[in-house]
Amino acid sequence: MSGTIDILQEGNVVTLVMNRPDKKNALTDAMYGQMREALERAQDDAGVRVVIIRGAGDMFCAGNDIGDFLSVTGAGDIREANVFRLIRLLGTFPKPLIAGVQGRAVGIGTTMLLHCDYVVLAENAMLTTPFVSLGLVPEAASSLLLPNRTGHQRAFAMLAMGEAVSAPDALAAGLANAVVPIAGLDDAVAKAASLLAQLPPGSVQATKALMRDAETVGAKMDEEIAIFVKRLQSAEAREAFTAFMEKRQPDFSKF
Ligand code: COA
Repeated sequence: MSGTIDILQEGNVVTLVMNRPDKKNALTDAMYGQMREALERAQDDAGVRVVIIRGAGDMFCAGNDIGDFLSVTGAGDIREANVFRLIRLLGTFPKPLIAGVQGRAVGIGTTMLLHCDYVVLAENAMLTTPFVSLGLVPEAASSLLLPNRTGHQRAFAMLAMGEAVSAPDALAAGLANAVVPIAGLDDAVAKAASLLAQLPPGSVQATKALMRDAETVGAKMDEEIAIFVKRLQSAEAREAFTAFMEKRQPDFSKF
């Protein structure tokens, strides 16, 4: 299956690029694995001070590969799949994470932003978390972090009803630091990274750690994963995944 995580390093800033533009950067198990390994290396490398996450092409990320979801059969313990290992790492990653988002960010494309410390959105960015319409539940502690940021009602509309949030609305809701014209996205991200990379790293990391309750976040992730894994194999989810692959509307009337 196509798709890679490209890793670029300039000085003490590492950029991870989700690179599968023909599939709107939908993430496969292999891509989650590459991203996790790159983050582990960045975590352990004293020469890395900041990590940037970007998507190639016209869209940040279309979320988990739905074909991959469909191939989960119940054999083996998928709680240890690369996606969940990456999610847990995002919850503890000690160095500043910056995201630059153009176009749509779907599912984990949006929930990973909740673990980024500085988020720049292009004017055309659109955040969606259509977990329920796929027969699933939220992940990456988004059922905790999103209501904390936006309040229950907004988070419910996003997580349960799949409401899309535009860049200006995301900024107003506290989900981003800045909205810039698409032509200015690279510069805005680079500027934030350069500023952070020049600060005393120990102090930056201690501040990030103080601002995050990693234990509570990790516990919520585990709670979500247990339900998510069951939901993945539910008849409702199978109908949603099959409908996507067959390019038709799902029919939930029989449930
Ligand atoms: N998994 C697998 N393939 C995906 C995908 C995903 N999450 N998202 C997009 N693709 C594929 C499409 O099937 C299509 O493949 P094809 O060219 O072989 O037909 C290709 O990427 C382009 O997608 P397309 O739907 O034509 O682009 P679009 O610009 O009209 O719409 C999205 C983009 C992201 C709105 C739409 O693709 C979509 O809704 N994707 C599913 C998102 C999702 O539900 N993710 C899971 C969240 S938990």
